[in-house]
Amino acid sequence: MEKRITISASLSCANFRHLENDIRQLEQSDVDYIHIDIMDGLFVPNFALDFSIIETVKSITDIPVECHLMIENPERYIERLAGYAPEFISIHYEATHHVQRVLKLIQSLNVKAGIAFNPATPLNNLNYILEDIDMVVIMTVNPGFVGQKLIPVTLQKIMDTKKMLESYGYNNVEIQVDGNVSFINIPLMVNAGATMLVGGTSSIFDKQYTITEAVLKIRKLINN
Ligand code: DX5
Ligand code: ZN
Repeated sequence: MEKRITISASLSCANFRHLENDIRQLEQSDVDYIHIDIMDGLFVPNFALDFSIIETVKSITDIPVECHLMIENPERYIERLAGYAPEFISIHYEATHHVQRVLKLIQSLNVKAGIAFNPATPLNNLNYILEDIDMVVIMTVNPGFVGQKLIPVTLQKIMDTKKMLESYGYNNVEIQVDGNVSFINIPLMVNAGATMLVGGTSSIFDKQYTITEAVLKIRKLINN
């Protein structure tokens, strides 16, 4: 049976002048997750949200949170972050020498473990951690900034990820795509094998639509 394709709203793209209102709209439009980008200015040349925003989100809605750690040596913060009970914690393959150990730590804390790859990072790095992941995050832009354009070769990377997971029998591992998930790119990403879409400035928070309209548009594109 085809896996249901889920939608995760990238909170760093929300309008922080009325954050609660945006979150309530996300709730009404039944997005599946809220995507929390955490940056340290080292792994990526930028800063974004911090752990405390998870408490704020949880005080407003029950939508599950999934965290994207764009930080060096994420092992330093996994226990603390797990205390906020996110559904997923995704670390970057490039951000630690001890990838398998950190993924195991995440799973040991009853949080699903995601491994994120920068656009240039080869997929064969998945080979020896398939047992330790619940999700692969394919960055379709270089991490660190909103509003960037999809790097076309990453569509092939999504296809290759799907093929690799299926060939090893890991069909239940999610394939999340993050970056320029636009109304034009969504059909391409879904056809390539994406199972979780991170909607940001080019879809869910596209100012030409309300959040509800945008999510409905995404759902229609997924179902076509
Ligand atoms: C980029 C972040 C993305 C970003 C998506 O480093 O990981 O989650 O917020 O923003 P758009 O959709 O504008 O690419
Ligand atoms: Zn992200």
